[in-house]
Amino acid sequence: MTLLLLLQATQGPCNTPKPGMLDFINKAKWDAWKSLGSISQDQARQQYCDLIGSMLKAEEGSSARAAAQPAGVGAAYQTLLVSTEENITTITMNRPAKKNAITTEMYKEIIAALEQAAKDDSAITVFTGAGDFYCSGNDLTSFTRIPEAGMEEAAKQGADLLRSYVRAYIDFPKPLVAVVNGPAVGISVTVLGLFDLVYATEQASFHTPFTQLGQSAEGCSSYTFPRIMGPTKANEMLLFNKKLTADEACRLGLVTEVFPDSCFLSEVWRRLRAHARLPRQSLVLSKQLIRSMEKERLYAVNDAEVERLMERWTSDECISAIMSFFQAKAKL
Ligand code: COA
Repeated sequence: MTLLLLLQATQGPCNTPKPGMLDFINKAKWDAWKSLGSISQDQARQQYCDLIGSMLKAEEGSSARAAAQPAGVGAAYQTLLVSTEENITTITMNRPAKKNAITTEMYKEIIAALEQAAKDDSAITVFTGAGDFYCSGNDLTSFTRIPEAGMEEAAKQGADLLRSYVRAYIDFPKPLVAVVNGPAVGISVTVLGLFDLVYATEQASFHTPFTQLGQSAEGCSSYTFPRIMGPTKANEMLLFNKKLTADEACRLGLVTEVFPDSCFLSEVWRRLRAHARLPRQSLVLSKQLIRSMEKERLYAVNDAEVERLMERWTSDECISAIMSFFQAKAKL
């Protein structure tokens, strides 16, 4: 309903030709849009704002509940748990009820947490997810919110945030380790190419359904994935949405090591504690040598990917794919 009101508010009453009877999905969308009849763009805009307002209130309630959970050292963050122990700073994405989907707020908090971890006394930084998922990628509800200034401005703001987010990984000075505790989707997968080690449970999977959503690759994956796994395997993921199992991702070099779920955390933390006892400066300088060969290229790739996505986010293909996602959920 939200997206239909958005269409009505921005484009007015349904004005596209009726899809054929056998085009079930587009026909259902067309019928739903048509059912809004001739309510004016102003009325649709008001109804859209009211609906978003009520959704935001519900969301604030769930954020408040998450914030009320024990947060240890990371009490300053609303969407993350951050703690430092035994020379290891751990950043945990903490929206388990939403499979750790990354909201605007979470993007900003992750950038801040990485900046803080870069400066603290720890030797390595670990990134993981709370609950049964590592992360379900970009929070798709952000596509249902448009500011007064309109869709183009929203896309530009999203692009600026995405550029800074990926740069925070490119620039991160210490060893960065992903502990992939469950399925990973979208941007949580693509930035793995910028991590130094990736440990995964056998339950993890790796999925980048960008073209399915009318979007395109980010996180520097259009450069790192072909380099890591070879172009033909990278294309299966980035063009044709192939979901990898943990073992497949490990064979292709995206994952360092896979562990049975029963001993995942104990085995991973045994390794992490050993890594964190290595001399800090030696780790930083060695990482600097490796990353410095690539840094300028990674910035350029990030810029190009963000430019492309900014255009994609306002495309009919993308809006229609996201509409389908929420319509499919509404029918469940
Ligand atoms: N954005 C916004 N909300 C999301 C989300 C996302 N990326 N991923 C999951 N959620 C929400 C669901 O809407 C649901 O919310 P609800 O409880 O209010 O209905 C909740 O998280 C739990 O997800 P659900 O779909 O019920 O769990 P599942 O185990 O059946 O499926 C996923 C999990 C991740 C496979 C499925 O939610 C999904 O496909 N999400 C979209 C992933 C995606 O396309 N990300 C962008 C990539 S570019």
